[in-house]
Amino acid sequence: MILNTELEYKGNLFPTKIISYEKNLNVLSFTTQNGVILQVTVRRDSILRFRYTTTGIFENDFSYAITKYASRGYNHLEVTEDDDNYFIKTAKLICRISKIDLRKSIFDAKDNTLICEDELGFHWEESYKFGGNIVKMTKTAQPGESYYGLGDKPVDNNLKGKRFENWVTDSYAFGKDTDPIYKAIPFYTGLHHKKSYGIFFDNSFHSYFDFCHERRNITSFWAQGGEMNYYFIYGPDMSEVVTNYTDLTGKPHEIPALWTLGYHQCKWSYYPESNVKEITAKFRELQIPCDAIYLDIDYMEGFRCFTWSKDHFPDPKRMVKELADDGFKTIVIIDPGIKIDMDYSVFKEGLDKDYFCKRADGPYMKGKVWPGECYFPDFTNPEVREWWSDLFKELIEDIGVKGVWNDMNEPAVMDVPGKTFPDDVRHNYDGNYCSHRKAHNVYGMQMARATYQGLKKFSYPKRPFVITRAAYSGTQRYTSSWTGDNIATWEHLTIANIQAQRMCMSGFSFIGSDIGGFAEQPNGELYARWIQLGIFHPFCRTHSSGDHGDQEPWAFGDSITNVVRKFIELRYQLLPYLYTAFWRYVEEGVPILKSLVLYDQEDPQTHYRNDEFIFGEKILACPVTGPNQKGRRMYFPRGEWYNFWNDEIIEGGQEAWVDADLDSMPIFVKTGAIIPKYPIQQYVGEKTIDELSLDVYYKLGKETSQVYEDATDGYDYIKGRYSLRNFNLLGKENELIIQQHKSGKFITTYKTFKLSLHGLPFKISKVQIDNEEIAFKDIKLNGDNTLIINKEFTELHIMA
Ligand code: GLC
Repeated sequence: MILNTELEYKGNLFPTKIISYEKNLNVLSFTTQNGVILQVTVRRDSILRFRYTTTGIFENDFSYAITKYASRGYNHLEVTEDDDNYFIKTAKLICRISKIDLRKSIFDAKDNTLICEDELGFHWEESYKFGGNIVKMTKTAQPGESYYGLGDKPVDNNLKGKRFENWVTDSYAFGKDTDPIYKAIPFYTGLHHKKSYGIFFDNSFHSYFDFCHERRNITSFWAQGGEMNYYFIYGPDMSEVVTNYTDLTGKPHEIPALWTLGYHQCKWSYYPESNVKEITAKFRELQIPCDAIYLDIDYMEGFRCFTWSKDHFPDPKRMVKELADDGFKTIVIIDPGIKIDMDYSVFKEGLDKDYFCKRADGPYMKGKVWPGECYFPDFTNPEVREWWSDLFKELIEDIGVKGVWNDMNEPAVMDVPGKTFPDDVRHNYDGNYCSHRKAHNVYGMQMARATYQGLKKFSYPKRPFVITRAAYSGTQRYTSSWTGDNIATWEHLTIANIQAQRMCMSGFSFIGSDIGGFAEQPNGELYARWIQLGIFHPFCRTHSSGDHGDQEPWAFGDSITNVVRKFIELRYQLLPYLYTAFWRYVEEGVPILKSLVLYDQEDPQTHYRNDEFIFGEKILACPVTGPNQKGRRMYFPRGEWYNFWNDEIIEGGQEAWVDADLDSMPIFVKTGAIIPKYPIQQYVGEKTIDELSLDVYYKLGKETSQVYEDATDGYDYIKGRYSLRNFNLLGKENELIIQQHKSGKFITTYKTFKLSLHGLPFKISKVQIDNEEIAFKDIKLNGDNTLIINKEFTELHIMA
């Protein structure tokens, strides 16, 4: 029976005054009179974790998002108090906690500027329906504050003025502003007064973020259960915030094999075998580079995972081998729904071992997906993940499949309200038993993790490759991802651009969209413009639903084929540059794409830009996102930029028109950059690289560049067999000096660099390598500013 007094409890409840404080190494606990405990953990000088309980007891401290490899340690920690407040001081931050109501204010320790302040701060509402609390946090927005991040939200970069939900959702043909969609990444960065911080709300329940939408100066976040548990990450550079968030939730466990950065071709579906072969042969015939070909659900027997349709693919092992001989890696789809069929071994085994999800009252969670009625493995059970990972033995080890594509793992269920499991479904959650309300957002992540474990095991000594549609924070450790079922419209080209940038600033850089659009059909112009954007996305794949016509590079006539080829070729030339960016991402968490605000937060012009982005460290790109355009206006971040196509220099800090007919797009290179390039190959490894091209963009002044290389696959790089070249460029009026510092034990196949000098303001009359003058004929210098030199140099002087 419910008593009135209990119903009254449904309003907001607040902490009262602090009555005790306790310090246990880096964990500080503040208890209020009404039994609220705030636990502050100092993880680093710039990272504080805040946890609240209203019951006097904390839940078991478990998170799928936080990696055990996250950096820890701080230089300074001091707690002081006065009559009204406690002060937690680290080398970077001061956190003030009010003794009256537990509200917090966080300041930069260097200059005392206010960075982030509680408005109401922590409060809660008891959930009569589910038990536990709806946990809430509100903060005062600072003047001029902007917000970024949150994963795959298909909205403008700056999130200010909007409200969002985090609930992983199958969103076929989503549109601009559709929310929520496939991913839940409850992490955002705030920026005001040139300083940036981040908040990661590590709570996997259905959560919400409001950025000055409900109330003009208030930012809030809340969740329908679990703990108020969030990390405050200070910059003040946004790039530091993102890097530190990525460190906390994990960098990819390995650098992806170089071939995974090539071009991928996909469709729902290429079958039978003869159709697959036709497609791959056409790539080679037309000399359009391609590394991967995908098999969507129709390769299976009645959509049963881990089976092959005997009619369409009578001998998969032979086919996969033949494709491999031609440079194609075969990638297959695997969904979570396991068809209910007693004659199907995977189903039988899952049932016998009790690995399928169950409803609260006992029955199995039954839902319809492609195969019809299915049961679903509980991937939050470590034993299930182990079992699942072993299921890949045949596909990977015996048949030779090189990558697995996890789809429908939101989990998607057809023909039911909510398009997913009901809330009462039970999950193991690695021993923290719970309902689907808590496990929903991590289900797809745990599926991708289990798949990753399988691929890692059976691909060894090669590196695994996985793609997932659903994700929660931290999923980037295991897998790449794409943005789901988009549409072949110009608006979606813009959305794809923003989503890729947003994912990168949410710690998840290995991302791309279905190039050309999944639903409906693009015309040639849209497809060509989309390829132009796509070659700058870390994951580069054309995919379409197939029932609207063909979407291969040659499907739109010769002139479009030529444009598409030209840009895919550029992707292949830039592979060492992209690989270097991946290495930086995997080593340090540096996002591969940088929105302009991430690149230069001090320039307020960047705060609302969407289209332009930095690819890697040195290339500025901006897609043309409308029909019939011969160019576009775009903003140039501060600095100087070479037009990639004609070497014209443009001064940044301004908007300008750029010509870009359909066979071109706005691409610029930062002055002083050294861009490494490989020869065009039809697939990675087709050619032995016998010369590395270095495009050197002259600058008056200094600039550094890096080139990372290794065996392109395998794990030797972890043992030090990599090659990292650091170049220091110094341009003077009549001299260009390049110093090289090389580290790592890997010996590259090439012996020489081909230097192409862009924008050199003088005619070369003398070249010195390591203090020795070199005859022009020895370096093949013939007036066109290209020279071929031994890769071993440490200092090169090019003089007027
Ligand atoms: C989903 C996926 C799509 C795939 C299709 C069939 O819609 O998002 O990429 O082609 O299912 O498997």
